[in-house]
Amino acid sequence: MAIRAMIEARNLTKYYGSFLAVEKVNFVIKKGEILGFLGPNGAGKTTTMRILTGFIPPTSGEALVAGYDLVGQSIEARAHIGYLPETVPLYTEMTVKEYLSFMGRLRGMKSGQVRERLGYVIEACRLEDYYDTFIGKLSKGFRQRVGIAQAIIHEPDVLILDEPTVGIDPIQVVETRQLIKDLAGGHTVILSTHILPEVSMLCDRVLIIHEGKIVAEDTPDDLGTKLAGVDRVEAEVEGPRSQILEVLKKIRGIIDVTSRPAGKNRNVYRIQAKQGLDLRPTISRTIVNNNWALLNIQLLSMSLEEIFLKLTTEEDLRT
Ligand SMILES: Nc1ncnc2c1ncn2[C@@H]1O[C@H](COP(=O)(O)OP(=O)(O)OP(=O)(O)O)[C@@H](O)[C@H]1O
Ligand SMILES: [Mg+2]
Repeated sequence: MAIRAMIEARNLTKYYGSFLAVEKVNFVIKKGEILGFLGPNGAGKTTTMRILTGFIPPTSGEALVAGYDLVGQSIEARAHIGYLPETVPLYTEMTVKEYLSFMGRLRGMKSGQVRERLGYVIEACRLEDYYDTFIGKLSKGFRQRVGIAQAIIHEPDVLILDEPTVGIDPIQVVETRQLIKDLAGGHTVILSTHILPEVSMLCDRVLIIHEGKIVAEDTPDDLGTKLAGVDRVEAEVEGPRSQILEVLKKIRGIIDVTSRPAGKNRNVYRIQAKQGLDLRPTISRTIVNNNWALLNIQLLSMSLEEIFLKLTTEEDLRT
């Protein structure tokens, strides 16, 4: 089965006046994939998404959805796209039903088609109890659901969600994430966030953008170890600290060792080793052979928080 690229960015570049907001961004999202677009404030997430939805044109480069160019074949491309913008332009004086029907019609659906589709959308977004409620009366979380509902009303196969869980309470965050997960099966999704655990929970792959450039691309799990270029081991040992430090530092493949106290005559040693070596067997043998007591040993992977900070603060890691 051929796996189609549903979203493609080719050298996307966007200047606002003389300000370079997005610089030569390249990525491909395959059919059915959920991609997390992660980056700090001002990184260029919304700008990239606006280009992908045909909202604004790129200064140079190309954006394609379902094979259609967002500039040259915008109508065809947009028919495949459901977009949850950063701030959803909801009409507060319409009921949920009226608004969703309106949005469906706006996207070229016939009123019969809208009627058929509404039931599914209302149920998928768990809006059954709010069908006839004025949008102005809905809480932020429910408005967000209406935002998602309008994004899927015309059965698009690509969803572009700009910070879908921002500003809603923890319970609704959980529900909104579940909703995205449920929708994911049949859709290709790109969602932006600066919430790192969200990426681990929802996404198959993550792109990290910083100052308009992609600085990393990986699965959430692999990002940690691959990016660090080192594996870290923590070992708790009972014995003479300076001697232990000295012996550990001599092991081949170990880059650095630091320690912190963990009780009487006990320390936790944090060991940086060259990537992929897994030095735990060597380290534990060395400790035991020296008659020190090994109380605990574990491999640490970097948390997404650490990676994110590392990527967005360390000059030398950028390409
Ligand atoms: N219409 C505009 N005119 C001028 N500059 C803009 C415009 N829109 C965005 N920018 C600038 O471009 C950069 C990228 O903005 P963008 O909104 O894409 O970031 P973002 O990653 O979505 O940030 P956030 O996490 O805060 O939503 C920022 O420096 C922003 O100030
Ligand atoms: Mg944004």
